[in-house]
Amino acid sequence: MAYNSDTQITFRPAVETDMPALTAILNAAITGTTSTGYLEPVTLEDRLPWWDSHLDPRYPILAAEHAGEVIGYASLSPWSPYPVYRDTVESSLFLAPSAQGRGLGTALMRELLAEAKRLGHHVVLSRIWSQNAASLAMCRKCGYELIGTQREVGLRNGAREDCVLLQIILKDYVVSETI
Ligand SMILES: CC(C)(COP(=O)(O)OP(=O)(O)OC[C@H]1O[C@@H](n2cnc3c(N)ncnc32)[C@H](O)[C@@H]1OP(=O)(O)O)[C@@H](O)C(=O)NCCC(=O)NCCS
Repeated sequence: MAYNSDTQITFRPAVETDMPALTAILNAAITGTTSTGYLEPVTLEDRLPWWDSHLDPRYPILAAEHAGEVIGYASLSPWSPYPVYRDTVESSLFLAPSAQGRGLGTALMRELLAEAKRLGHHVVLSRIWSQNAASLAMCRKCGYELIGTQREVGLRNGAREDCVLLQIILKDYVVSETI
């Protein structure tokens, strides 16, 4: 099933009872890919500070739901605690393995960018490990521009990893009618 506007997938604000599903999706990415900053699976308790930090409506979590099941999520987080960065946010997006590669990530990211614009944010940044071709392609497709590569900032399984920084300035972002 390819994702399109007719697919029975809804995007909605996450609620606290989604946390087990959101944690399971993150853990699938931690154990099955090198797309996260974690080296070991996390517990629900580990993730509660993250949930609490998104109770502020300026930093939403969106859930993608299909047939009553959460199959992905995306979030906006503060980029920096310094007040000068107050309208700059960082995006994050994870899909369950079975939901990947069918256009859902692109659609959910576009919804997240539309929400960021509605909330009055100015810049959305994304940090992506350089080997994560799917995430880089998804962000470029959604209009993120490449800022540069932070070389050797990560250390995973004994190997140094580069992190790619991308950004989008929301005043230039055209919200599609057909997300
Ligand atoms: C990264 C992720 C969010 C992308 O969502 P997705 O629904 O799988 O991606 P889409 O189907 O929307 O594809 C977006 C683009 O990426 C390309 N793409 C998808 N998978 C790819 C892969 N493995 N390698 C290279 N390009 C890929 C697609 O071809 C598409 O470009 P196109 O339409 O021009 O062909 C999703 O795969 C995922 O959750 N992965 C695991 C967690 C993760 O990496 N999260 C991001 C952390 S920065």
